[in-house]
Amino acid sequence: MTQRLAGKRLIVVGSATGIGAATVKRLIAEGAQVCAADINISGAEKVAEEAGPNAFAVAIDIADEASVQTAVAAAVARMGGLDGAHINAADLRVIMSDTDLLDMGMDVFDRTIAVNLRGHVLCARAVMPHLLKNEASAIVFTSSGSAHGAEPARACYAMAKAGINALMRHIAARWGKEGLTANVLAPGFTITGELKANLEQNGAEAQKWLDVYRAKTPHTRLGEAEDHAAVVAMLLSEDGRWINGSIIDVNGGSLMRA
Ligand SMILES: NC(=O)c1ccc[n+]([C@@H]2O[C@H](COP(=O)([O-])OP(=O)(O)OC[C@H]3O[C@@H](n4cnc5c(N)ncnc54)[C@H](O)[C@@H]3O)[C@@H](O)[C@H]2O)c1
Repeated sequence: MTQRLAGKRLIVVGSATGIGAATVKRLIAEGAQVCAADINISGAEKVAEEAGPNAFAVAIDIADEASVQTAVAAAVARMGGLDGAHINAADLRVIMSDTDLLDMGMDVFDRTIAVNLRGHVLCARAVMPHLLKNEASAIVFTSSGSAHGAEPARACYAMAKAGINALMRHIAARWGKEGLTANVLAPGFTITGELKANLEQNGAEAQKWLDVYRAKTPHTRLGEAEDHAAVVAMLLSEDGRWINGSIIDVNGGSLMRA
């Protein structure tokens, strides 16, 4: 593995499982110092321990501004500054009740926006004063293909992710001249370790569901968390320096038009 992130002080918010956990491990493998922040602190601690001595965990609830400020302050104090951030967290439990506009409760909308969009705004506001102290820095948000796809369900999730895309473009336009790049990672359907474990419990039904996704994807396999971690590592490194204001679809080609 190259050491292109040597000397970089990074934070991954939403890092206890899935894409964020794989990203912490990848950033560490490429030489960075990484704060793994998550509401699931025991999960983040396990990830940091597995990643290596240059990783450490802090607790954060991105729905709570005071928690965000405290966590970012702790990360900055420990590393002596911040060169890059991956804001990746999302509440993926509330998505189970995210049906359609007429059916869903407004509590589903409020919770989805509070974590999946407002939480990203709070994180950006907390990390950016530190990032802007450097001549060059980078912020990567995780959005989703659902922001520019069209689905009859998951209305709130898609609205929140579309908001992240707009947030990212605002930051890229407003602070690009000051050396900060902002980009979005937009995953397509991704088999994370946790998802795989859940699906295995559902046997044949889950297999059928996976087969539908395989058929829809013009690739030899489905996406995995490590596919996204590699892209985030690039965006946070010098290799990604000229990429600003972009939404990077990482989905095996599943959103292409025929
Ligand atoms: N897996 C997919 O198919 C897929 C597809 C498109 C987009 N995404 C996006 O990728 C990102 C990561 O998803 P994943 O599949 O790895 O799921 P995941 O549930 O494994 O990761 C989400 C992380 O966010 C954390 N989190 C949840 N609420 C939080 C809060 N209030 N404060 C702090 N942390 C909180 C969770 O504890 C978890 O560690 C999410 O933004 C998700 O919307 C995933």
